[in-house]
Amino acid sequence: MKVLAQILRQARRSLTKRGILGTLILAIAASGVVVKNLRPSHRQALRLQRQADRGFDLKYNVDTAGTISQGSLDVRSRNQLFATRYEPIQDVDFAALLADTGLRYQDYTFIDLGSGKGRAILLAAALPFRRIVGVEFSPRLDAVARDNLERYTGERNCTNIELACMDAARYDFPEDSPLVLYLYNPFERPVMQQVADNLAASFSRRPRRMLVLYFTPHCADVWDSLEFLQKKRATNLLCLYDSGDPPPAGPV
Ligand SMILES: C[S@@+](CC[C@H](N)C(=O)[O-])C[C@H]1O[C@@H](n2cnc3c(N)ncnc32)[C@H](O)[C@@H]1O
Repeated sequence: MKVLAQILRQARRSLTKRGILGTLILAIAASGVVVKNLRPSHRQALRLQRQADRGFDLKYNVDTAGTISQGSLDVRSRNQLFATRYEPIQDVDFAALLADTGLRYQDYTFIDLGSGKGRAILLAAALPFRRIVGVEFSPRLDAVARDNLERYTGERNCTNIELACMDAARYDFPEDSPLVLYLYNPFERPVMQQVADNLAASFSRRPRRMLVLYFTPHCADVWDSLEFLQKKRATNLLCLYDSGDPPPAGPV
């Protein structure tokens, strides 16, 4: 009943704004999206993804599976307006992101902005990073991630792991080591721009190597426009940016 009332409200608003023809066109376009989601191939892909998610959780005794909309999360930040839903990265996708980077992990701090229940943090912990940081603004998801860190039975080659429950737009990047910044489509442009500005300011204060691994890169143009980063890989699924090693500082 609630859904029907909402559809009727939207239809009334659209009729006032767009007229009958405009509303009809919009309704046909929207039904295309619904139909696509009902396609057997799409449903099959979703089923396989859900199975893989449950498989990961069972194998490692954690709770990372499922999607959670922002509407049902306990966030107290205006930036929730620009936040995407919770959804964990698949382990194969995470491995593909770091493949061929040739990084000496021991030198790098890995940062996941929008870390959710911590799936990427757990996967990163299998690599010998110097340090790993997860930043998530939902206290509920942050608590699940902390619990997951305790329970995880997978491989751990980094034990220096921190979780911060805060808005990623206010996060200060650590300046004592090179960075790998990992983003799984966590937020839209206004927050992405703030995060990119923060990273650029940190780089100009303290030039050091920085890599940005951006999965499902909906706001890639924000990162494309940063002068200190070069785009090294770009597909529909991921973009990889690298500052390269900055030249050593000259005599003061
Ligand atoms: C698509 S999920 C990615 C989860 C995790 N990084 C992974 O790869 O499995 C995006 C997460 O970003 C969080 N998020 C969105 N905006 C945020 C913000 N401004 N500050 C902190 N977390 C945010 C959401 O609550 C959600 O948990």
